Amino acid sequence: MAQNTALSLPVSHHDLLLSHFRAAHDVLLNEQDLSPRNPKINSCLSAFVAAVLDCHCHDICDLLAMPEVMAKRDTLLPKLAQAEYEMEKFFALDFAAQDVLTDTDLDHFIYRDNYVELVAEEIDAARAANVLPHDRPVVFVGAGPLPFSAIDMHKQTGLKMICIDSDADAVALSRKMIAALGLQDAIEIVQSSGEDFDYSGAGLVMVAALVSAKDNVLARVRDTAPGVGLAVRSAEGVRTLLYEQADERALDRAGYDYAGKSRITDTIINTTLFFQPRPV
Ligand SMILES: C[S@@+](CC[C@H](N)C(=O)[O-])C[C@H]1O[C@@H](n2cnc3c(N)ncnc32)[C@H](O)[C@@H]1O
Repeated sequence: MAQNTALSLPVSHHDLLLSHFRAAHDVLLNEQDLSPRNPKINSCLSAFVAAVLDCHCHDICDLLAMPEVMAKRDTLLPKLAQAEYEMEKFFALDFAAQDVLTDTDLDHFIYRDNYVELVAEEIDAARAANVLPHDRPVVFVGAGPLPFSAIDMHKQTGLKMICIDSDADAVALSRKMIAALGLQDAIEIVQSSGEDFDYSGAGLVMVAALVSAKDNVLARVRDTAPGVGLAVRSAEGVRTLLYEQADERALDRAGYDYAGKSRITDTIINTTLFFQPRPV
């Protein structure tokens, strides 16, 4: 129990989480600027994310069944996606303004450690699920303006990465950053929607949590690279207040069998699910 000192009453983690959820909902719906330039966005999102990570009911959380929470979550999730894109773009503009970047420069990104940790967990889970390629490239769909997932996946495995994103700004900024790091031969940036890309030649396809039209992306992967494994970023329990949970039935319909998931930790929000293509 946390303590509400003003009222001297015990306050449960759920009460705190509910108040931060409501505050984040109201601020994100009312503000025009959802980037880190807006101090209201910074403070409400840091408090909300901390409250989510502090709530250890991964499987069952009564909050998720409250009609108010269910309704507000539907309007909050698209705003959170926009705020994440704006946050990535904000940091990417700084990185892309430099001609040369070093590994130390990358540590200036405040969430760098979270990416390093998430990718390490994903590599362990991909190996256990037997979907990590030995030499063929990993295609990352929805890599965004700040391609840390691809950078860390390459640094930790040595595998070539192909990042795809439909957004022209995300592609221009991430291409500049990869060139400044001297990684252009190891990490290719392609402007394409995940629904149109030709995945043949891929060793593994990873789908970011915020990718839209996921069913169409899955169908396209299955059509163009039928024997390749999939990794889909998802969220569980109370963390679905921040991200949609991947639809395992859609993956089953698309011809994929569940093969494992990354470990849930106290600091990583996402869980990544791994799938093997079902033999036809
Ligand atoms: C916030 S960002 C990046 C995610 C983050 N960097 C990560 O590692 O998970 C999400 C990106 O996905 C891209 N995106 C969303 N749906 C897509 C799709 N169907 N095909 C390609 N890119 C997509 C958006 O343009 C956006 O840049």
